[in-house]
Amino acid sequence: MNRVQVATKSKVYDVCIKAGLRHLIGDAVKKVTEPVSSVLVITDTDVAPLYLDDVVLSFKNEYPVYTEVIQSGEASKSFSVYEQVMTKALESSLDRKSLIIALGGGVVGDLAGFVAATYMRGIRFIQVPTTLLAHDSSVGGKVAINHPLGKNMVGSFHQPESVLYDTEMLYSLPVKEWRSGFAEVMKHGFIRDLSFLNWLQEIKVIEEMPIEQLNTLLEKSISIKAEIVTVDEKESGIRAHLNFGHTLGHAIESELGYGVVTHGEAVVIGMVFSLRVSEEMFNIDLDVDKYEKWFSDLGYKTKIPASCNINNLLMLMKKDKKAESQSVRMVLLSKIEEATVKEIPPTLIEKLLVERMEGDLIG
Ligand SMILES: NC(=O)c1ccc[n+]([C@@H]2O[C@H](COP(=O)([O-])OP(=O)(O)OC[C@H]3O[C@@H](n4cnc5c(N)ncnc54)[C@H](O)[C@@H]3O)[C@@H](O)[C@H]2O)c1
Repeated sequence: MNRVQVATKSKVYDVCIKAGLRHLIGDAVKKVTEPVSSVLVITDTDVAPLYLDDVVLSFKNEYPVYTEVIQSGEASKSFSVYEQVMTKALESSLDRKSLIIALGGGVVGDLAGFVAATYMRGIRFIQVPTTLLAHDSSVGGKVAINHPLGKNMVGSFHQPESVLYDTEMLYSLPVKEWRSGFAEVMKHGFIRDLSFLNWLQEIKVIEEMPIEQLNTLLEKSISIKAEIVTVDEKESGIRAHLNFGHTLGHAIESELGYGVVTHGEAVVIGMVFSLRVSEEMFNIDLDVDKYEKWFSDLGYKTKIPASCNINNLLMLMKKDKKAESQSVRMVLLSKIEEATVKEIPPTLIEKLLVERMEGDLIG
């Protein structure tokens, strides 16, 4: 078993990484938290047919185990699905000793976590991530649903009792979901650990990496996230470094419409852009061509899709909710593994957006 401790001010918990762990969730619950009265497993329509029975059976009928299956996809991080799950919790008479299990990717984790944060003013929950991206979303305690006016705008900080990661489950993911999650893994290397970033470059086909390598990769990548959220649980300082590549990434996702590209695909385009902005701002050479080729070889697009409008992107980047003012604040690298937040003149942003646009706008 690979294990990472997350020590935030509000809670200390472990991320346990092990092939086949889904069959042992019932036993693991007894080890990681005080006795529970009942369990509600929340999952989605893609994950349920694959893994829900295994998780339910792992509890061996020791206490009532209820299940709620939500439609897969980002649209489920909504008020109506939140109400649907709350209704299930109430109908199942969950009490303050009940436990919620979030079995799924970031969508299930964020929604189920927010239900746990708010049901009876907060009950315990455990993350059982089933996507690679969820190695990021399941650690750190940010839970949320979307408002029609903004993504993740209604939420809370609510740390799980534990994160139980069964890496076997990742092998049923579609390739684009592997790629989406791997972008966040690479991001952790860029902002914090050059030797990890170099090690990652040995991986040629993401979805074919052996499970031992996947376990090591997750342990390392989660350690980086854990270190950051340990120092800055509520994002008043260095937690913002985790937004490397996200200012443009979010703008692209929003401009294209959510779901057209995956989060990670947009973040990769955003990371190349951030590297270019860093080069210009600090007058340094970060070997962007080398990293761009690596991303392309792994199957990512690295240029801004031609259907994006530059003015819209600029406006969205100024509006990024993580920005404290109307100017463009971005996470840059003064060198690889050293992240910093900077205000960027909109003229430079515009010039580099043109340069990074698909279809050779500047020849
Ligand atoms: N809380 C945080 O700190 C944080 C950080 C990053 C992202 N997020 C959130 O995470 C969400 C994205 O998460 P995601 O990329 O995991 O998306 P997701 O949960 O939508 O999962 C992607 C797709 O894969 C399917 N799936 C999940 N596990 C599977 C498996 N093992 N086999 C086959 N199919 C499987 C899902 O049903 C879904 O269709 C976004 O809503 C984002 O806002 C949160």
